[in-house]
Amino acid sequence: MTHQHPEGHHSPPQTPGQSPQQPGQQGAQAGKQGGFNPQAAQARARIESMKKQFEQRRSMTAAMAEIKYQIGVYSGKGGVGKTSVAVNLAVTLAQGGAKVGILDVDIDCPNVVRAMKVYEPPVVSEDKKMDPPERFGVKVMSMAFFQENEDEAIIWRGPMIHNAIQQILQSTQWGPLDYLVVDMPPGTSDSPLTVMQTLSLDGFVVVSTPQELAMVDAKRSINMIKTLKLNVLGVVENMAGDMFGSGGGEQLAAEMGLRFLGRTEMRKDYRDGTKPASLVSKDVRKEYEHIAAEVKKALAESAKEAS
Ligand SMILES: Nc1ncnc2c1ncn2[C@@H]1O[C@H](COP(=O)(O)OP(=O)(O)O)[C@@H](O)[C@H]1O
Ligand SMILES: [Mg+2]
Repeated sequence: MTHQHPEGHHSPPQTPGQSPQQPGQQGAQAGKQGGFNPQAAQARARIESMKKQFEQRRSMTAAMAEIKYQIGVYSGKGGVGKTSVAVNLAVTLAQGGAKVGILDVDIDCPNVVRAMKVYEPPVVSEDKKMDPPERFGVKVMSMAFFQENEDEAIIWRGPMIHNAIQQILQSTQWGPLDYLVVDMPPGTSDSPLTVMQTLSLDGFVVVSTPQELAMVDAKRSINMIKTLKLNVLGVVENMAGDMFGSGGGEQLAAEMGLRFLGRTEMRKDYRDGTKPASLVSKDVRKEYEHIAAEVKKALAESAKEAS
């Protein structure tokens, strides 16, 4: 499998050792051995590409070695509050004294940067390493930093997603973190699948609204995580209240045999343009303190089960 690079301006910074082979190099070598052998050249290219993949994997793992827990925030569809949950969970964990980062790999709608009010992209050093900017005590890295035009739609194919995420992660200097919260692409298409296979997350927080349709989507997405033999930490019900009702998320958790992590109501506080809602409203903060405590319990439990 060859990994294409995202094209044009959208490329994340290249890491050293990824420049294409010098043209003519192979030909010169083949010439010495008497005649060009396309099969041997192909085999060599394949080995080179595999080596590169192993190196990428190794440096990604090395760059993330100091992260204790990686938590994916995921939903069956967009617009249910996945980014809001990711951001407010991250901020609340940080307020509790933990070292926290947030990684936005929602390929089609990378909105964390806006939700966290980060307007400066990371500084890229000479050795191509990136220091993630920090806001509200949380280190922020997003696919959106590498997107020139926010309004533009980019068509991402699996190998491009895989490559872009690996490049971002092997260049990002998170330092020691207690939690890395990952805003995932929603749904069950190629994008979330690729992200799940590229990262090694400790578990998923599934976000659903109390509505029937959102719950059907949530079930489908929970089943995808289970099919991949990954760990579901539990369900958060978002946007509970007069509009969509209440209790659907809890019912979903019960039906699927999962932990109910908590409920957050539909509130005006999310309209604040300067801060995440948990830093604006005491009520939202309480909701997220409960969710954060439940997430910690779920992580501790799954760590116990794994050992
Ligand atoms: N509990 C809530 N109450 C009110 N508005 C909310 C709530 N949760 C999310 N929103 C708003 O709904 C919209 C979609 O939420 P978002 O987190 O971006 O969803 P997603 O990431 O799943 O697409 C945003 O404008 C957000 O501010
Ligand atoms: Mg979002």
